[in-house]
Amino acid sequence: MAFAPLETGRLVLRPFSEEDAEDFAARRSDPETAMYQAWRVPYSVEKALAVIRESEHHEGPVPGHWFQLDVQRRADGRTVGDVAVYLHEHGHTAEIGYTLHSWARRKGYATEAASALIDHLVDVTGVHRIEAATHPDNERSIAVLTRLGFRPEGIKREAFWVEEEVSDDALFGLLAREWRAQRATAAAAEAGSPA
Ligand SMILES: CC(C)(COP(=O)(O)OP(=O)(O)OC[C@H]1O[C@@H](n2cnc3c(N)ncnc32)[C@H](O)[C@@H]1OP(=O)(O)O)[C@@H](O)C(=O)NCCC(=O)NCCS
Repeated sequence: MAFAPLETGRLVLRPFSEEDAEDFAARRSDPETAMYQAWRVPYSVEKALAVIRESEHHEGPVPGHWFQLDVQRRADGRTVGDVAVYLHEHGHTAEIGYTLHSWARRKGYATEAASALIDHLVDVTGVHRIEAATHPDNERSIAVLTRLGFRPEGIKREAFWVEEEVSDDALFGLLAREWRAQRATAAAAEAGSPA
C-alpha cells in the first residue's frame, strides 16, 4: 500500500518523487546548509535523483534503508525542506534527519515535521527508540532535538567523516514511551487538565 502523506497543522510530508530532484539538489548545494552534513557542495541533480530512486520504491520506512519525505507548506504547496528516516535492520530503532531551505528556518517547520514523523514511527512503524546524530556545533539542530524531547547520549570522538575530514558526532536518543508520555502531557495541557 502506498505511503499516505503525513499532515500537520501547516505541513504535508509526502514521499519524494523524481520531480523533487532539482529542489533537493538546490537545498543541499547551499554551503551553510551543508556545513555540518555528510555531503559536499555543489550537490548535483544526478546525486539527488540517486537518493530519490533509492527511497521512492519503498512504501514507508523499511529495515536497512533510508526513506525520504518532501515537506511542503499546506498554504502554498511550496517545499520547505525534507525529513528522512533510517530504520535499523531489526526494526526497533530509527534514526532521523531533517533539512530546511534557508528561507524556511526559524518558523518551527523542522520541529513540526519531525514530530509528525516521530508520531508515525511510534504509532505505525512501532519503533522502540529514535535516535539522531549531529555535529556538536550544530546548535540549530540540537535545539530541534531538545524541543522534541531527545536526550543527549554522549559524543563519539572523531567518528564522522566527510571525505578526508573528521569531526566528533553528538548522539541523541528518544524512547517511544517518553514520546507517548510527553504527547499525553501536551494534550492534557491543551485540554486544560493534568495528564
Ligand atoms: C537544523 C534546522 C532544520 C533547524 O531549523 P530551525 O528553523 O532552527 O528549526 P525549526 O524549523 O524547528 O524552527 C524553530 C524556531 O522557529 C521559531 N518559530 C517561529 N514561529 C514559530 C511557530 N509558529 N511555531 C513554532 N516555532 C516557531 C521557534 O521559536 C524557533 O526559534 P528559536 O530557536 O530562535 O527559538 C536548520 O538549521 C537546517 O536545515 N540546517 C541545515 C541542515 C542540518 O543541519 N540538519 C540537521 C542534521 S543533524
